[in-house]
Amino acid sequence: MIYNGHIKLAHKQALYDLETINPDSHRQSFHLDPPSNWMNDPNGLVYFNEEYHVFFQYGPFSTTEGARHWGHYRSKDLLHWELLPPALAPDETYDKDGCFSGSAVVHNGKLHLLYTGHVDEQRIKEVQCLAVSNDGIYFEKYEHNPVIAAPPTSKFSNDFRDPKVWKYQDLYYMVIGNTKDGKGQALIYSSKNLIQWNYQGVLAESVGDQGFMWECPDLLTIGDEHVLVLSPEGMENTKHKSIYLTGEMDYNLNKFHQKQVYPLDYGTDFYAPQTFVDKTGRTIMYGWMNMWESSMPTSESGYVGSLTVPREITLSNEGKILQKPVQELKQLRFGESKFSLSNENSVRLSKLLEYGELEVILKIKELNSHYKLSLRTSEDNSEKTVIGLDLKQKMLYVDRALSGKGDQSIIKMPISVTGDEYKLNILLDRSSLEIFAENGEKVITTRIYPKAESKGIHLFMDGENSAAQIKIWDLEDHMRNLKLHE
Ligand code: FRU
Repeated sequence: MIYNGHIKLAHKQALYDLETINPDSHRQSFHLDPPSNWMNDPNGLVYFNEEYHVFFQYGPFSTTEGARHWGHYRSKDLLHWELLPPALAPDETYDKDGCFSGSAVVHNGKLHLLYTGHVDEQRIKEVQCLAVSNDGIYFEKYEHNPVIAAPPTSKFSNDFRDPKVWKYQDLYYMVIGNTKDGKGQALIYSSKNLIQWNYQGVLAESVGDQGFMWECPDLLTIGDEHVLVLSPEGMENTKHKSIYLTGEMDYNLNKFHQKQVYPLDYGTDFYAPQTFVDKTGRTIMYGWMNMWESSMPTSESGYVGSLTVPREITLSNEGKILQKPVQELKQLRFGESKFSLSNENSVRLSKLLEYGELEVILKIKELNSHYKLSLRTSEDNSEKTVIGLDLKQKMLYVDRALSGKGDQSIIKMPISVTGDEYKLNILLDRSSLEIFAENGEKVITTRIYPKAESKGIHLFMDGENSAAQIKIWDLEDHMRNLKLHE
């Protein structure tokens, strides 16, 4: 069974939809989104046989319902992608209501996927499963699945999902998200062969306001440091949010001693991130660029969801995560425009931009200056997305009140200004905005759904001696050149 019926059907649907549905104006140009229907978490990120693989939670037949599959893209360069048949379909009794999130490792030259089998009965049942591939395209589920058939004891909740596997010295380790007594937890297991797993205890659990259920835990090793990335449910005022904990990993006790907690992204549409290490040793992260509670207006056009661009992760001297779009993305740039602006209150740039990249340097001459950069602006200004730098309030914000379809909330991010300028790197796609500030320590990711013709860029500067430098690049639309595996 290398190409089973369920997978064939799902792939046929994707190929048919790609051929017959015309992309609407919100279809992403340089971000991965689903061929059609539903996408959530990035899964199984891995570099295998000279290629990058990005899997994702996939609903091939509906923009809302249906048991999750694993959709599958691969690429040689993180830029040009091929759509492969789904890797996993929910076709066994132990995963019949969904092949939920998980991760990938290369073991004995084969690609191994570890994922959660999800069954919705009176109580949900979640188990950990294995699937293996020689060629990185067709996967065979392990015949004695599940490899972990239940949480360690009956005291643990049945919410038991999202295995992330890595190797340390001679052993594989797996963290799994769980909840116990109203606290989010990450459980840790170890294994020699990815089949027999030994429970090693609670790696870490929520302290204070860290939520009641930890989804998609991911322990990153960067140099000698460790960081635990989590997507907790039920933090104060938020249903879902991604955070990270700095701390010390103790492999003798299999404990992560947490020190500080930080948001990973301040936006409304960033969740369930996952990282992997590529052949050059870089740690690369993708996130799901949506959120369970966000409105998803593209469902009318037959597709929903997107992933962030791949972001390289490094740590600052203080151990904080710094995120930067991988340098490969620079190859998509063409047609650089430069603007140098000073002492003007309001300028509409001659450049129009539907999607592309911006580097914005705002001069901080006075501590009460207020800059507003309005993107995706219609000619009559009735539609716009405003990125504001308010130095008095020490705040960077994104005002989506007039952004078009979708949610209209204002996103606020506290900033710290040190030098005499504030720099923003912005990736704007047809329906998303990613803003990187403070060397990647502060990031805002959000979705916007403006009209295609709203492409103006407008800068407002309030405060004497204000000045700004803006560089803008168009980017190649590589998702329209998607290769299709028949
Ligand atoms: C996170 C999540 C995971 C789960 C998956 C199901 O967004 O809820 O915990 O495995 O989505 O699609």
